[in-house]
Order: sequence, then C-alpha cells, then structure tokens
Amino acid sequence: MSGIAFWPPAASEVAAGVDAIVIAMLAISGAIVLLVAALLLGFAIRYRRGSAARRGELPELIQKEVEVGWTAATAFLAMFLFAWASIAVLGGQRGDPDALEIHILARQWMWKARHPDGAREIDALHLPRGEPVRLVMRSEDVIHSFYVPSFRLKQDVLPGRMTQLSLKPTQTGEFPLFCAEYCGTLHSRMLGKVVVMEPEDYARWRAAQPQADDLAREGRALFESVGCSGCHAPASRVHAPELRGLYGRQVALADGSVRRADEAYLRDSILQPRRDIAAGYEPVMPPFAGILGEGELQAILAYLMSMPARGASPGEPRNMSSEP
Ligand code: CUA
Repeated sequence: MSGIAFWPPAASEVAAGVDAIVIAMLAISGAIVLLVAALLLGFAIRYRRGSAARRGELPELIQKEVEVGWTAATAFLAMFLFAWASIAVLGGQRGDPDALEIHILARQWMWKARHPDGAREIDALHLPRGEPVRLVMRSEDVIHSFYVPSFRLKQDVLPGRMTQLSLKPTQTGEFPLFCAEYCGTLHSRMLGKVVVMEPEDYARWRAAQPQADDLAREGRALFESVGCSGCHAPASRVHAPELRGLYGRQVALADGSVRRADEAYLRDSILQPRRDIAAGYEPVMPPFAGILGEGELQAILAYLMSMPARGASPGEPRNMSSEP
C-alpha cells in the first residue's frame, strides 16, 4: 500500500454504479466549464472596446425565455443527479436479512472487528467474496468514519449511536481501509486493510482464529455479572420488564406515549433508565452511564437484540439478523 490510487479497483457491488455517477458528474461539470469559458471568450472578443457590436438592452421576450429555460434545465439536471446518486448508494443499503453480521468498534485510533463466532481482529477485516455483509458499527470515543475507497463506501461511526453499512464484496484481494473523519492526533494513522477472500477461504480463516465467545454470548455473561439478570430474569421476584423479544416491539411508556424498542431505546434504557419508564413499572433501575464501557454496552445490546420472544429456547442467543 503506497502512493495514492486515483482510481482504485471497483471491488463492491455498488462500486461500478458510483464510478458511473462520478464520470457523469465530471462530464457535466466539464461541459458547463467549457460552455462558460467559451461564452466568456466569445463575449470578450465581440464586445471588446471599440468593436461595432450592438449594445443596450435585450428584447424582453428573449430575456424571459432564456431565464426560464436555464433555470428549468439546471433544476431538472440537479434532481436527476440527486435521484441517480440516491438510488445507487441507498439501493445497496436495503439490507439482506441473511447478511453476515460483523460488529465494528472504532476508537482512537484503531478499528476492531468481531465476527459472528467470536473471531476478532484489529485494523483488518476479512470478508467473503460475493456474500452480503452488514457492518454494525459503534465508536468508543469520538466520530470516526469507515471508508474503503475500493468499495466506494463510507459511513460515519458515532459515539452513542449505532450505524450500519451493508455491502457485497465482488473481488478478492487486499484493500485499504481509512478513517475519513478527523478524530485526533493519530487520525492519519487510523488505517487498516480489508481482505476479501473466497467464501471457503474465509470460512477456513475464521475457523483458524482463536475461539472466543461471540458478542451476544459475551453480552449474556455480562448481563449476569453486571447484575441485570437479578431483576430481569424471568424467575426474579423484582417486578422488572420482560426483555425477551423486546427488541423491535412497541413499548407503552408511563407517560402514555409509545416507542419502538430499537437499538437507541435499549441503549437509553440501560444508560438512563429513568427517562422512558415502561408503563406499569417503578423507576427503580440504577443508571449504567459511566459504569459500562462502550464495548460492554455493545455486547449487552447484542445479547438483548438476539433474545428470542418468550416460548423460544430460553435465554439462548440466536443469530441476530432480523432487523435491517
Ligand atoms: Cu478515526 Cu479519524
């Protein structure tokens, strides 16, 4: 990895589409620059001092038509580019429920990745070619931005909020990974590589990694060790909300409103449980802000999001991939 690649390989499903847009924008901008420069030059010559060209006001009618014409044309052009770019980029973010889910934790100044069966890596990300992947990303400190030029994809990674990036690598090889948001002294060294392998090679690579708990399992252990299970276990005598199957459900709150139990709601309810009290419960849970680190929170959230509804196998994390 040295030097600057001005046109890196197009290694993801959306890359060719993004390239087409870049080329089209360059062509359109180039045409406008040429047109303006030609008119500038033409008028400079025609209306040079002492020339016999006609001066004074334009006829009213021509003025209006020209005005309406160029305003409408550029407005349509801008709308067209907007729609084209949105479809190209958002089309890849629809999310595949069967996507391979990998958790990314960014911090000053490294990228940590965690694969479904617990394989971990730092400043590297191994991916299988041709398979849909969803990166679930969080930051431990400040705003970072996950940027792989060869995939033509970039997504900010924020503290206190989960962001996702769906992609499908189409080419094997090693591609540079950058942090694209200034995040402190060593921002420029927050580099990594994405290694795309054939699916068999990826499976082999993953199997060869040291065995570790996956995130949801680690979260389950934390859920017990931090004390959540004392109240939230089904058998507990404390009257605490049932958490199984909570993720994604509508929750009635004590103030009469209803909120969907998305990732942000679960996170808020752990860090500041007194803010949105579920209807029918006392605000007795202590806040965990400042007690749980971002990595621990990430694990507990993964566990909560993986818990099946009541009736399914109790407390056993399932592969979490129901929500886009
Ligand atoms: Cu992380 Cu810049």
